[in-house]
Amino acid sequence: CGIVAYIGKREAYPVVIKGLKRLEYRGYDSAGVALLNGGDLKVYKKKGKVAELEDHVVGKDLHSVLAIGHTRWATHGEPCDRNAHPHLSGDGKLAMVHNGIIENYAQLKKELLNKGHQFTSDTDTEVLIHFIQEIKKSNQCSTEEALRIALKRVVGAYVILIVDEDNPDTLLAARKGSPLVIGVGKGEHFLASDASPIVEYTKEVVYVNDYEIAIVKADELILKNISNEIQTPYIQKLDVELAAIEKGGYDHFMLKEIFEQPQTIFDSLRGRLDAKAGKLTLGGLREHTDLLKEANRIIIVACGTSWHAGLVAEYMIEELCRIPVEVEYASEFRYRNPVVGKGDVIIAVSQSGETADTLVAMESAKEKGAIILGVCNVVGSSIARLSHAGVYTHAGPEIGVASTKAFTAQLAVLALIGLKVAVEKGTITEQRFQHLLDELEDVSDKVAIALELNEQVKKIADKYKDARDFLYLGRGYNFPVALEGALKLKEISYIHAEGYPAAEMKHGPIALVDENLPVVFVATKDSYYEKIVSNIQEIKARKGMVIAITTEGDQIIPGMADDVIVVPEADELVAPIISVIPLQLLAYHIGVLKGLDVDKPRNLAKSVTVE
Ligand code: G6P
Repeated sequence: CGIVAYIGKREAYPVVIKGLKRLEYRGYDSAGVALLNGGDLKVYKKKGKVAELEDHVVGKDLHSVLAIGHTRWATHGEPCDRNAHPHLSGDGKLAMVHNGIIENYAQLKKELLNKGHQFTSDTDTEVLIHFIQEIKKSNQCSTEEALRIALKRVVGAYVILIVDEDNPDTLLAARKGSPLVIGVGKGEHFLASDASPIVEYTKEVVYVNDYEIAIVKADELILKNISNEIQTPYIQKLDVELAAIEKGGYDHFMLKEIFEQPQTIFDSLRGRLDAKAGKLTLGGLREHTDLLKEANRIIIVACGTSWHAGLVAEYMIEELCRIPVEVEYASEFRYRNPVVGKGDVIIAVSQSGETADTLVAMESAKEKGAIILGVCNVVGSSIARLSHAGVYTHAGPEIGVASTKAFTAQLAVLALIGLKVAVEKGTITEQRFQHLLDELEDVSDKVAIALELNEQVKKIADKYKDARDFLYLGRGYNFPVALEGALKLKEISYIHAEGYPAAEMKHGPIALVDENLPVVFVATKDSYYEKIVSNIQEIKARKGMVIAITTEGDQIIPGMADDVIVVPEADELVAPIISVIPLQLLAYHIGVLKGLDVDKPRNLAKSVTVE
């Protein structure tokens, strides 16, 4: 979910609506606002996207100097008007928006029901605001005090914003586990889940920490911890430009982000890689390079696309550094009592740096004595701050819900980490080290060449868009690329797609093959080439349709495949950065041709801050 608030001299509603649109990638099941104008509290909310809320409020009184807003990714309760935020206290005086999950809400709800409270929604949020109101009433205290008492009993993760009809010049906010940024303007404050709703107004921001409560007025910001002690806000400068979060002439953010990749990959390597001098610097790892070098084991934890980047990194690091690597779904790792401790290095890979499962997985490994490194895109994010050290991917804000440029930047940075450790450990020859530095230096240009395939891929998309299922196959470094290609297609086009190791296909998925099944082979020239050629033959022998991603100069595969997409040649270790490009484009075009909202695919959210 995304939350946003404004307090100050401007009209609050337009600021909050615009902010919600910027945060819509975090969820778009429903949207709502609470507006406070003096002592007059109004709440408007609607199922669906922010645009539907805007239609809903046409002709209504929207004048306000304080507003909070919410765009939802449903957890408790189906997406509908009733479950949309903000939620009101029983007396209708307090309104709250919330991102996160209150785990003990059922117990709290039972207690409140016994006291006569009635609820209009199925959400944990409504329970929490009723709970605060109940404390306020029974303790005869301020809303701020009641909030503090309530939070001591709450189990779960949250960021919440509260407005109070009886205190119309103050906004209350609190966080634990979910992100909250406060933009500090002149006589005004902006609050949001990330900086994107804030950048156009101010570059001065405060990242609120866990267990902190912010008491925000137009010209005053007070931060307190849960024991009511004042904390000094640490004001940081944002380095995000407005252009980075706008579409800039592209039809969709996803397409813009796909096309940004030559630049974003370059940015992820800039200042780190100096191929001419044969040098590699990773300032963010500092003294931890030694710990990595001596690690008994590296465990990569991540979710979604970032998990796929982790799989590529497993192959890279094992090959280059000879250190055993495991790649774990963060959601599994955190719950299965894993064997982890001193001597283990955890690498948490995350675009947003806020994914709840990844965050908790790393927290528990940290408690057990492991060293935690973060590979995050969002600067100042929770995962970045919790890590002992890390390397930012510097891909710039990624808004399209399906991850594209963040993935290739992750691959580039993970390759740098592998190379750095290998060279320090002495597990790589000078010659191979130099070769890979050169390859990485060239990769941006090769990605630019791969992007020239756009029109061709669009035609292929048109040819196959009505297929019911797709299979994506690859081997070695291209196996995770096949998984990522299938994930992109699922997310964007809602076509069922499976990624598989090409050789494993004969142990199951081959049963799916007939003349209606398109099979995408990621078959660039690498050490598995001959093997994958045989796999293509196996599919053709069963009348499957083959779309092959191949390398320039390939003489064999073009004679076998139904459609061939030719990408520039590269060392197999960096090839995934290039071979994934046509797969991103394929998913994009199929989604667009099917008339779907590719930037906001149904049921998904970009930043999943609930477990
Ligand atoms: C969500 C997004 C994916 C993303 C995953 C992990 O599912 O829709 O695109 O890969 O979360 O997110 P992270 O921010 O941790 O990389």
